[in-house]
Amino acid sequence: MSLDILFRPFEHKSLRLQNRIVMAPMTRSFSPAGVPTPDVAAYYRRRAPEVGLIISEGTVIDRPASSNDPAVPHFHGEQALAGWKRVIDEVHAAGGAMAPQIWHMGIVAPHASGWTPPAPMEGPSGLVVPGKAGGVAMSETDIAETVAAFGRAAAETKRLGFDAVEIHGAHGYLIDQFFWAGVNKRQDRYGGVTLPERSRLAVEVVRAVRSAVGEDFAVILRLSQWKQQDFAVKLARTPDEMAAWLNPLAEAGVDIFHCSQRRFWQPEFEGSDLNFAGWAKKLTGKPSITVGSVGLSGEFIAAFQGESSRPDPLDELIRRLARGDFDLVAVGRAMLSDPHWISKIREGRHEQLQDFTREALATLF
Ligand SMILES: Cc1cc2nc3c(=O)[nH]c(=O)nc-3n(C[C@H](O)[C@H](O)[C@H](O)COP(=O)(O)O)c2cc1C
Repeated sequence: MSLDILFRPFEHKSLRLQNRIVMAPMTRSFSPAGVPTPDVAAYYRRRAPEVGLIISEGTVIDRPASSNDPAVPHFHGEQALAGWKRVIDEVHAAGGAMAPQIWHMGIVAPHASGWTPPAPMEGPSGLVVPGKAGGVAMSETDIAETVAAFGRAAAETKRLGFDAVEIHGAHGYLIDQFFWAGVNKRQDRYGGVTLPERSRLAVEVVRAVRSAVGEDFAVILRLSQWKQQDFAVKLARTPDEMAAWLNPLAEAGVDIFHCSQRRFWQPEFEGSDLNFAGWAKKLTGKPSITVGSVGLSGEFIAAFQGESSRPDPLDELIRRLARGDFDLVAVGRAMLSDPHWISKIREGRHEQLQDFTREALATLF
């Protein structure tokens, strides 16, 4: 099996990538008071020479309760933005390309440290999981201010010199909470029985981001069917429902869909082996990114609970990439624990590939 296809360049709008491999966004919580440190810059710089595109850990927008964790980086405020400027300058100096992942957590469980944000957590209907309160329902003013804050973060992305921006619309965080009927019980124009109705917040965020960065700057949207609150949820149950979900987002300004699965090889719908990224590309005509257990035997949520993963072959990934199912491949844990994972793959140094264990999360190597 030839890996050449993984190492073909990729160009789209502002992106000029040396290969098809993307570092997946991974929260590291090493930014005290929300400010990325020189160690954070060095962590990304170490990976920059080899990776096509680095997507940063989720970095939160300017809302009082956009985060439940004081060490998750902010994407607003002078000090945090100066920290990010250092990050992108170091990544560029090392020959890499990078997009921040801009994020609002919505209503999530309180952080293990006991820290709480300066305002109550906010979401569509105050629910943290179906049937259980965990915060406040957002007013239309809260929503408008949130949309504007996403727009400001996107403008800063471009001003600081990043190569693209990714909006976090996945995994049961704010934007995904609006998509999900289980926690979006709103009776106004931000709720509704259909997925396109519950997509209004996302469409407004995408429009605000697009208008902040202009036509030529690549806008990536990360989506998932699954939620951290419930792996079995499917927002779109058929290809038609998926088209009705994704096409308005594409029209609003999404350039690339980043389709999060826990295991990339799992088919999205019966009757076809296409995965989520495969369907997103087929239905919208836009480039897509796949992700989920690439190069590893076990998936990432189990890794948080202590399950280790062994290196796994890339044949199935390459088969799908060669078929044109998706354009880019995001790799999380394998690259978190090993900044040289890509060169080891490229050079066939398989005996040097490492297992992934939870201990890797404790340091920023
Ligand atoms: C430590 C860690 C932190 C993560 N944080 C984020 C995040 O901030 N934003 C996001 O969209 N996904 C996050 N993820 C999910 C990854 O981006 C990726 O989708 C997942 O790890 C599956 O890829 P993998 O199997 O290659 O690790 C995180 C994963 C890990 C392991």
